[in-house]
Amino acid sequence: MPVKNVLKMGHPILQQVAEPVTEFNSALLDSILVDMYDTMAALDGAGLAAPQIGIQQRIVIFCVEDNPRYPDIKPVPDTVLINPEISFLSDESVLGWEGCLSVPGLRGRVPRCNKIKYRGYDQYGNVIERIAADFHARVVLHEVDHLDGILYPQRMEDMSDFGFEQELFP
Ligand code: NI
Repeated sequence: MPVKNVLKMGHPILQQVAEPVTEFNSALLDSILVDMYDTMAALDGAGLAAPQIGIQQRIVIFCVEDNPRYPDIKPVPDTVLINPEISFLSDESVLGWEGCLSVPGLRGRVPRCNKIKYRGYDQYGNVIERIAADFHARVVLHEVDHLDGILYPQRMEDMSDFGFEQELFP
C-alpha cells in the first residue's frame, strides 16, 4: 500500500515554496494522488499537501466527513485542489483549533480569515472555484499554507494556545 512517510516540522521541504503543476491528467499526477489519499486515510487526516510526502508541487487534498479528530465540524467536500489561489472575502479573523500530520500530537489555536474564495484545478484540469467559510475555509487555508512553506504554528499569535492533544483535550 503506497502510504508514504509524512515529513515532520523542521524538515526543509516543509519550509519551501512548491512548484506549480504544469501537466494535468497524467499518470504521474494520478500516482501522486493515490499516495496522498492512502497516506491521509491511514493517518486519519482532514487534508494533506504534496510537500508533506516530499513532493514539491502545488497539490492539496482535503475531505472532512465524520472525522473523530473534529467531532463537531460540518463536512467539507472531498477535493483535489491544484495550483490554488485564495481571495480573502472578510476582514474578520477567527480563532480555531488546528492539528497537522507534520506536527503530530499537538494542537494549536490559529487565527484565520473566516470567508474566502478559492480557485484552482482538479487533476483533470477542470477549474474549481468555491466560496468557503468557517472550518471549510480554515482547512483550505491550512493546506494552501503548506505550499508556501508555512506550518500552522507560524500563524499563531498566542503560544499559550499550543499544546499536546492529550493534555488539551483529555
Ligand atoms: Ni498540515
